[in-house]
Amino acid sequence: MKKIAVYTSGGDAPGMNSCIRAIVRGAAYHGVEVYGIVRGYNGMINGDIIPLNSQSVSNIIQRGGTILKSARSKEFLTTEGRKKAYNQLQAKGIEGLVAIGGNGTFTGAEIFYNEFKIPCVGAPGTIDNDLYGTDYTIGYDTAVNTALDAIDKIRDTADSHDRVFFIEVMGRDSGYIAIQCAIAGGAEAVMIPENLTPVSEVMETLQKGFSKAKSSSIVIVAEGDEEGNAQKVAQKIKDQMKIELDIRVTTLGHIQRGGVPTAADRILASRLGLGALEGLLRGEKNVMAGVVNNQLVYTPFHDTITKKKPVSEDLIRMVEILST
Ligand code: F6P
Repeated sequence: MKKIAVYTSGGDAPGMNSCIRAIVRGAAYHGVEVYGIVRGYNGMINGDIIPLNSQSVSNIIQRGGTILKSARSKEFLTTEGRKKAYNQLQAKGIEGLVAIGGNGTFTGAEIFYNEFKIPCVGAPGTIDNDLYGTDYTIGYDTAVNTALDAIDKIRDTADSHDRVFFIEVMGRDSGYIAIQCAIAGGAEAVMIPENLTPVSEVMETLQKGFSKAKSSSIVIVAEGDEEGNAQKVAQKIKDQMKIELDIRVTTLGHIQRGGVPTAADRILASRLGLGALEGLLRGEKNVMAGVVNNQLVYTPFHDTITKKKPVSEDLIRMVEILST
């Protein structure tokens, strides 16, 4: 394989640039020509494909976002769109792909491989940490730390005013960001899609805390929680609680997607980027590189997108015990 291309797709994640850098530098080391596809699958369809070399990725290891930009492509969902993308890659003589992204990215990559047989290896880049086949995804650690910084600040004001804060964190239908934030932020309760916590249970926890002279509380709500978003949960509790609470709601939103990647994310991204590239050059295809128990492994795209990575029961239990 002499010519490959790399792209980032779906929601951006801190560390994507570190990953691009590792792929480009790794390709230079192995004497392989490397291209960057701009704006993910949309760039593939439109032929927005640029040459990259070691210098193109200087000074990006510490930058959030993605220098290749990202998009969620509707056209790639169509057969015609994917045919156009294939023609663009053929025209450039690209023989292999490295995809950096999450669920949607690998769903597209699997369909594309099945149709056109261009080998593709993925590197998991998403703040959600919702991919089977890797213990951690690129961007997750940074997102948790960004959210945690905000939660610590909210705790100060919650304490000053004796308030209850419901803080909504991202994660789509996964509760990974929420559970880590709840533990590290010392939250009184957490609501995640993997473990339905009825509002009655949260009310009980809050009630218990106040009866023990707690004067403020933090509840972390994952955006995909089945009881509804933080606003709805807070309203339900306000309506049903017997004691009057001074409640506020904060939705952290896209702040969690930006910022300087942590050391852990830069290292993970470098390892997974190089791992994906070297896997591709060795003949791996239709798989995602991941780190499981500190070992580099390759998992079929199909499994990464269809299998569920459970949130450890231990962690859920810990939130309950440590808020006592
Ligand atoms: O997948 C990353 C993520 O940030 C999710 O946590 C969130 O649900 C979604 O993307 C938001 O997507 P968008 O930026 O398209 O609104």
